[in-house]
Amino acid sequence: MTDQRENALQYALNNRENFLTAYKEILAIPSVSTEKAHKPDIRLAAEWLSRQLRALGMQSVQLFQTAGSPIVFGEYLGVPGTPTVLVYGHYDVQPVDPVELWKTGPFEPTVIGDDIFARGASDMKGQALITLKAAEALIKTGGMPVNIKWLFEGEEEVGSPNLADFISSHTELLACDYAVNPDSGMIGREYPTITYGLRGLAYFELRVFGPAHDLHSGMFGGVVHNPANALAELIAGMHDKNGRVTLPGFYNRVLALSREEREEFARLPVKESDYIEQTGVPSLHGEAGFTANERTGARPTLDVNGLLSGFTGEGSKTVIPAWAMAKLSMRLVPDQDPEKIHKDLLRYLEQNAPKNIRWELKSLAGNPASISDRNNPGVQAMARALETVWGARPYFKREGGSIPVVGDMQRLLGVESVICGFGLPDDNVHAPNEKQNLPTWYRGIDAYIHFFLNLKS
Ligand code: BES
Ligand code: MN
Repeated sequence: MTDQRENALQYALNNRENFLTAYKEILAIPSVSTEKAHKPDIRLAAEWLSRQLRALGMQSVQLFQTAGSPIVFGEYLGVPGTPTVLVYGHYDVQPVDPVELWKTGPFEPTVIGDDIFARGASDMKGQALITLKAAEALIKTGGMPVNIKWLFEGEEEVGSPNLADFISSHTELLACDYAVNPDSGMIGREYPTITYGLRGLAYFELRVFGPAHDLHSGMFGGVVHNPANALAELIAGMHDKNGRVTLPGFYNRVLALSREEREEFARLPVKESDYIEQTGVPSLHGEAGFTANERTGARPTLDVNGLLSGFTGEGSKTVIPAWAMAKLSMRLVPDQDPEKIHKDLLRYLEQNAPKNIRWELKSLAGNPASISDRNNPGVQAMARALETVWGARPYFKREGGSIPVVGDMQRLLGVESVICGFGLPDDNVHAPNEKQNLPTWYRGIDAYIHFFLNLKS
């Protein structure tokens, strides 16, 4: 090992307490991007990150205003003859509801045993901090081995609506050899994982309108079409009995799985029983003819994310509601196009909605799926780093979640992302009691120290 490698790892070991203190600071900021009330907190989180970048000696540290949350940028380009790495992170988090199910305050980071509990601990303030603290360890023990740029956004959890515009108008500023994206996780504690595929997303709000106002269901039941019933029928019709989505043309552009890829999916150390254990369901459900790993990694899906209509308070109230609403989203795979999926859904509604109700469809977010090049030298450098820390070869996985920036960077910067983070399947991301396993977090810092050094040699 080179001296700097040893020294940086030693620095990280000696500074575990300090690193944890910084982690708790950022976790205490309630930077929820879905709620306007948290706008000042979004700004606090952005400012906290820019202070971290300045403390690391980064140059050109600045906040860029966008139509939404600020983008934080900083860079250090003082290592001529070495590659430039662009590290991406998002400092926004999901809402905390249902808040009554949290055992500790979502913004009062609490260590219990090996875990730290707080909203954003895993997705993804913890992962962003891993990259910052790995850089700190290197900077304090001789300097960054490669050129580095940082890009933190505050709107990933709402689909990164302003990021593509920012990237396309700052291509020079963001020019790099590799992008690194730690907004992801591992298959299990002892299974280091590199994500090479992500699903896309098309998200909609569907509203169905019936009578001009709520009606007595005795006086009018039997003569008007109930919009809640109509919405339920429409949703029920969106899948057939084999679990396939029925929107016209939905599967037209879906890339088929090759035999090699199916074999690779089958080798992943994730069993159907793991999904049952992680979710608490009695048995699995989904598209016939595909395994659970294939269905999350490489097949598109359609889900209701929320439903609202009529009387939902205590007891009973006999009404026919005036309207009903559903939040609906599709996870997309290559080469599906979110705009084409929007048209497919419109066509389904035109063909299937009863004529005596009115409906409105709003598109809320959309981004295509992405597949990253597994053979690029950045991925190889990460694979070696993971092998050094875990003593095990990493698994390559196609992830079911979405990270819009990965596709944006491919399209707008012509750059591949190395996607590697250290969340675990039981971290309760987007749910109550989100956590991050701390021993895994410290290993992640070591891995990123190795990664940055590996990029140079
Ligand atoms: N970190 C997740 C994406 C992810 C999930 C990666 C699971 C690996 C495993 C990210 O913050 C996220 O939740 N993204 C949203 C994006 C959407 C709002 C466009 C998602 O997937 O729902
Ligand atoms: Mn995330």
